[in-house]
Amino acid sequence: MSVLSGKKILLGISGGIAAYKTATLVRLFIKAGAHVKVVMTPASKDFITPLTLSTLSKNPVSSSFYHEEDENAVWNNHVELGLWADLFVIAPATANTMAKMVSGNSDNILIATYLSAKCPVYVAPAMDLDMYRHPSTKDSFEKLAAYGNTVIPAESGELASGLHGEGRMAEPENILAFLEKDIEGKLPLRGKKILVTAGPTYEPIDPVRFIGNHSSGKMGYDIALAAANEGAEVVLVSGPTHLSINHSNVKLVKVTSSADMYAACHEHFYNADAAIAAAAVADYRPKVVAEQKIKKNESSLMLELEKTKDILASLGEIKQEQFLIGFALETENEIENAKAKIKKKNLDLIVLNSLNDEGAGFGKSTNKVTFINSHFEEEPMELKTKEEVAQDIINKIKKYYNV
Ligand code: CTP
Repeated sequence: MSVLSGKKILLGISGGIAAYKTATLVRLFIKAGAHVKVVMTPASKDFITPLTLSTLSKNPVSSSFYHEEDENAVWNNHVELGLWADLFVIAPATANTMAKMVSGNSDNILIATYLSAKCPVYVAPAMDLDMYRHPSTKDSFEKLAAYGNTVIPAESGELASGLHGEGRMAEPENILAFLEKDIEGKLPLRGKKILVTAGPTYEPIDPVRFIGNHSSGKMGYDIALAAANEGAEVVLVSGPTHLSINHSNVKLVKVTSSADMYAACHEHFYNADAAIAAAAVADYRPKVVAEQKIKKNESSLMLELEKTKDILASLGEIKQEQFLIGFALETENEIENAKAKIKKKNLDLIVLNSLNDEGAGFGKSTNKVTFINSHFEEEPMELKTKEEVAQDIINKIKKYYNV
């Protein structure tokens, strides 16, 4: 999955021949899973039509502050457009547009939007060889960088003038790759390793039967995805679920029993920066696992159960710098029981689910949790989707690491 997936990209197009390549650029952004809006300078419409771009981006295109021919015209809100964007890519950026960005000369909607935008801005210059080399262009590059913009270097090759050299706008594929690499490099949890447990465990009775529970695994999978989207390298140790996860930063380790989960967690915990135990691990397992299928010869059957190892508590015992998060699912004396678990399992944070809260628990897509930290400070949260709770949990890790 591309790091651009779900991102809102505003593409600003200024009037250079390379504007014809922006149709491909919009398609690449859409294919990467981004939402795209386009803002154009009037001059760029000589090189590519707004209709092409609105069709490809599936959004209206803005090229002026209002439509002159329409007497009922509404003002195109550049402030709103600038605030909408997660990133603003100006491609192609002509020498004229860059000079205006530097001086703040907002005589068109692209520059007005640029001045209103609060998101990261990327500039892909395109011009002829000598314009590219001109001291005033170099001056623009320096000032644009000083204002916090990122310049996507132009490429060398044949130019529209027939000359050969530097100044061609980076190819759309290269702009996409540049953005992905740059954004990935700046993700807050980049370089951090996070272990997550998810799902139920199955404790075998005989070769065909087991003791299990109804955990869907969704909470743990959402946490793994939220951590990966913030740049962390995630090991997701999962009991049997119907879920799948597709992210290059997530290594999925499938396990069945609590003993398998214990072993997998201990293999990956030593070099983790944080661990989140969202699995519903069986507390007991059959003491003896029958080698053959148990026949129904008797009118009743006794199964002797023994305690499983508490994986989270075992991680709490050996933890060094790791930020350790556990879950608690309680039905009575919730806060007190959760606090006792923080101590018993040596946790930094516990996420308390109360079954008394409507919308919380197994098989639901929402969760109402209370965070309690190691100083026993309580933070009750609203009813949220599991994705939102996952993000809240990841935000706690980010806060701990001050990123
Ligand atoms: N947990 C674990 N290994 C176990 C049991 C639980 O890692 N064998 C983890 C769960 O993933 C969860 C936390 O411990 O993060 C809380 O588990 P819970 O079942 O609520 O608490 P218990 O310690 O089992 O206590 P009790 O059943 O008495 O409430």
